Amino acid sequence: MEKQKIILDCDPGHDDAVAILLAAGSPQLDLLGITVIAGNQSLEKTVRNACRVVQWIGADVPVYAGCDRPMVRPQIIAKDIHGESGLDGPVFPPLAKSPEEEHAVPWLIRTLLESDGDITVVTTGPMTNLAMALRLQPKIADKIRRIVLMGGAYANGNVTPAAEFNIIADAEAAHVCFTAGRPVTMVGLDVTRKVLCTPEIVRRMAASGTCASRLFVDLMRHFCRTQKEVFGWPGGPLHDPVTIASLLDPALLTVRPMNVQIELRSTQSYGRTNCDYFGYLGLPATADVAIDIDVGRFWDIIEEGLRRYPSAG
Ligand code: RIB
Ligand code: CA
Repeated sequence: MEKQKIILDCDPGHDDAVAILLAAGSPQLDLLGITVIAGNQSLEKTVRNACRVVQWIGADVPVYAGCDRPMVRPQIIAKDIHGESGLDGPVFPPLAKSPEEEHAVPWLIRTLLESDGDITVVTTGPMTNLAMALRLQPKIADKIRRIVLMGGAYANGNVTPAAEFNIIADAEAAHVCFTAGRPVTMVGLDVTRKVLCTPEIVRRMAASGTCASRLFVDLMRHFCRTQKEVFGWPGGPLHDPVTIASLLDPALLTVRPMNVQIELRSTQSYGRTNCDYFGYLGLPATADVAIDIDVGRFWDIIEEGLRRYPSAG
């Protein structure tokens, strides 16, 4: 079976880290590179965290540092969830892996232009890098097979009542990406809040006994605690890996084509993904919005992904 070519643009971040584990270890995917954005923490920290995860699993995947701030609005981070380092919890060995010299945005442009139009771009952080690439070189739009993003919600946000973090952190960038004219799959809070990583799930994954499951456990102990403290959840919603899992099993998500417009003007609802669930506006659909997820299948995919790695030794 031919591997799916993907680029993962992320802001590690605990759940981004699990998305990296899942993508880098899958025989179904060809992870061409990891581009990093400021989001959950500063760019310096998210780049270091991406390198830490790639080094931990011994993956041969290049990491590219991207934009260190949003396109227009002031920067926000999610220290309350991901901690001072952006990946609090695990104790990492001294870092030997470095990011590539090339900036993520020109690398995205060059890689997409040189491709056969068969690359899926997965974003699990603010969409600044992809938006800047689209603005610098609009020709890349025709070369993007599909944009699969973790972000938004047709129901409630998680930063304001209206908006989810990845979108509100750079709503202008999200607007550029949603209006690029390419197929979009929006994996929002509506489905990611259904995959809560509870202590029972952590125990299940720990039993895999691999280097990846050990990292998963150390990550999730922190992530579950802070999610409980901040939101009162019984577990940590494992947002970002849902994007990767949906590529591994297209039947994982139930999606509904909708017209989605990003709110840029409102003070109260800035960053909202206005999803026309019932088609009131009569406008063409601009995204396939996830409205349900096979939760049991998701955790099976996570466990399969973790088990693929060598034993923890
Ligand atoms: O709202 C959840 C999203 O914001 C996730 O991608 C998390 O990592 C943060 O980036
Ligand atoms: Ca993220």
